Parts: sequence; C-alpha cells; structure tokens
Amino acid sequence: MKNKRKIESEINFKALLKNPIRLFGLVYIYFIAIAIVIGLYYLDVMNATAFNTVPGTSLDTLNIVREIETKVGGIKPAMDLTLISNPTADFIAVGKTKFETTCASCHGTEGKGDGVAAAALNPKPRNFHSAEGWTNGRTFYDIYKTVNDGVPGTGMTAYEFLSPKDRVAIIQYIRTLADFPLVTDTDNKKLDETYKLAAGVIDPNNIPIAKSITLISNENQKIVELADSLATLVIIDNGTNAVLLKSNADNIEKVVYTYISKLNKKDFGSFVQILNNDPVALGYKASVVNLSSEDLKIIYKYLKQISG
Ligand code: HEC
Repeated sequence: MKNKRKIESEINFKALLKNPIRLFGLVYIYFIAIAIVIGLYYLDVMNATAFNTVPGTSLDTLNIVREIETKVGGIKPAMDLTLISNPTADFIAVGKTKFETTCASCHGTEGKGDGVAAAALNPKPRNFHSAEGWTNGRTFYDIYKTVNDGVPGTGMTAYEFLSPKDRVAIIQYIRTLADFPLVTDTDNKKLDETYKLAAGVIDPNNIPIAKSITLISNENQKIVELADSLATLVIIDNGTNAVLLKSNADNIEKVVYTYISKLNKKDFGSFVQILNNDPVALGYKASVVNLSSEDLKIIYKYLKQISG
C-alpha cells in the first residue's frame, strides 16, 4: 500500500497534460490486455472461421450415368482379321502404348483396376486378372463390345473414337496381362459380323435419346401452343361452321390439337375413317359418327381453313 501511494504521488498530471504522448506509457498495458483477449477469442472461434464446415460440392463427373453421346458418324476403315487370331509382337506393342494412354488411368498399367482415377469410381474398374463377375464377359468379342458400347451406368464409357484396329490392339495387349479364353473361329466370325471389321463401316450420325426427346417435346410444345390459340378462335367464332364443329366436340382444344398433330395432311376420306375409329380419342362426341357426309365435310374444311 505504501508503494502504491508512492507511485500515485509520482504521477504528475499537469506534466501529462502538457505532453500527452507520455500518457501512452501509462496505458499501453491495457492495449496489450485487449490484444490478448482478441487473440484468445480468435483462437477459440478459429474452427468456425477458418474451416468451412459445410463441404463444398463439385460435380462428380466420374460417376455420372452417361447416355450415349452425340456421335458424329464417320468411316471405320477395314482391318486385317488375322490381327485378331495372330497378333504380331509389334501390334501388341502398339496396343500397350494405347492402353497406357487411354485405359491405364482407371485400370492400372497392369490391368489390376488400380489406376489413379480408380479410387473415385463406383463401381471400381474391372481387375483383368480376376475371372469373376464380368458384366459383358471376357471373350475377345465381349471385350470388343465393352470398348464399343461401354458399360452403361459405370465409369466405363464407349470408346467410339478408337479405330477398330486400335481397339483390337488394346484388347490383344490386355489379353497378355492375364489368362483369357482363346479366340475361337466363332468368336472371330461373330465379331466381324457385328462390327464389320473386315469390310469397314460407315457410321451414321447419332443424337442421344434425351436430346431427341427434348427436340420432339419442343416441337410438340409449339403444336400445343398453336392448338391453344386456334381453339380460342373457334370458341369465339359464331359462324355456322364453327357452331357445327362445337356442337359435335367434346373438348375443342383436343379436337384442334389432334387435328394439327394427326389429321392435318389427310384427305377427306382418311379424315372420316380416322374420326370414325375413335372419335372420343380425338376430342369429339361419340355421336359425331352419325353426322352426314356433308356435315363432316364442313367440319373437315373448317378445320383445314383455320389451321392454314
Ligand atoms: C474412367 C475410368 C475408365 C477408363 C479410362 C477405362 N475403363 Fe474400363 N472400366 C471402368 C469401370 C468403372 C469398369 C467396371 C464396369 C463393370 O465392370 O461393370 C470397367 C470395365 C471394363 C471392362 C470389363 C467389362 C466387363 O465385362 O465386366 C473392360 C474389358 C474394360 N473396362 C476395358 C477398358 C479399355 C480397353 C479401356 C481403354 C480403351 C478402358 N476400359 C478404359 C472404367 C474405365
């Protein structure tokens, strides 16, 4: 206590006011204390601030179930079939190089299914050394099919871009890695018949199913919209032709829609025939079949006229 009083009495407040910088010498200890508190607080909440506890997501491109991709057709050159039954060492060496650049990332250089990209895959790439559980099978033909079509729903895609000769070379190399069934004549023949290896083939362009569905439904969407606006026209039209049609229609939108999508280009005879087959399915009342030919002709002409 004695000491304290001594220190206090030493503080010369007047002098401090004259030279405020000296004040810092007295209070810096509080700044340090505040800095330490902030530091401790930071350490305490560091887990929450430094790491994002919600894992980021990125598109898993390896496990996507792929549809057949858009394929531009082309010419697959003919190949020498003896390369299937009697591959030369050079040919197998070509296969090895191609295997290492195209397949080994997943299947591993020795075909054990332990390539660098394999870890992320489900199902895992096939281990060529095990004869168990192959999806397509282990004959030459089966493996060719795998390379050609891929295994749907797995990381094994179709290797469309490989020429038949390259595929055969790769398969020949794979066959040196483990024991595979011998290539039989029937196998060889089936392979050639299916994939026209000796003759070579011209592949047509392909578009994937999903894409064609989109195209079709876009097309259909246009028809639906057109039918919708035409039906509105018919509904407000009080002319005798429109009235005749409406009195025989069960659902005017449907009548117009089925007309545009199915009957548009038909001649009168086919129109009547299709109508009589199932009028309800086309949006008419069943009684429409009892109309006279003249009345049907009026309806036919009216629909033709409004749909241009
Ligand atoms: C992106 C990884 C990946 C690449 C690259 C890859 N594969 Fe595969 N492969 C797989 C997966 C995954 C499977 C397992 C599918 C299954 O067996 O059902 C598989 C299975 C196979 C099978 C066995 C099919 C069966 O009948 O079970 C063969 C043969 C095959 N691949 C050959 C090849 C060849 C040849 C190449 C190179 C042209 C290749 N793979 C490139 C992932 C890959």
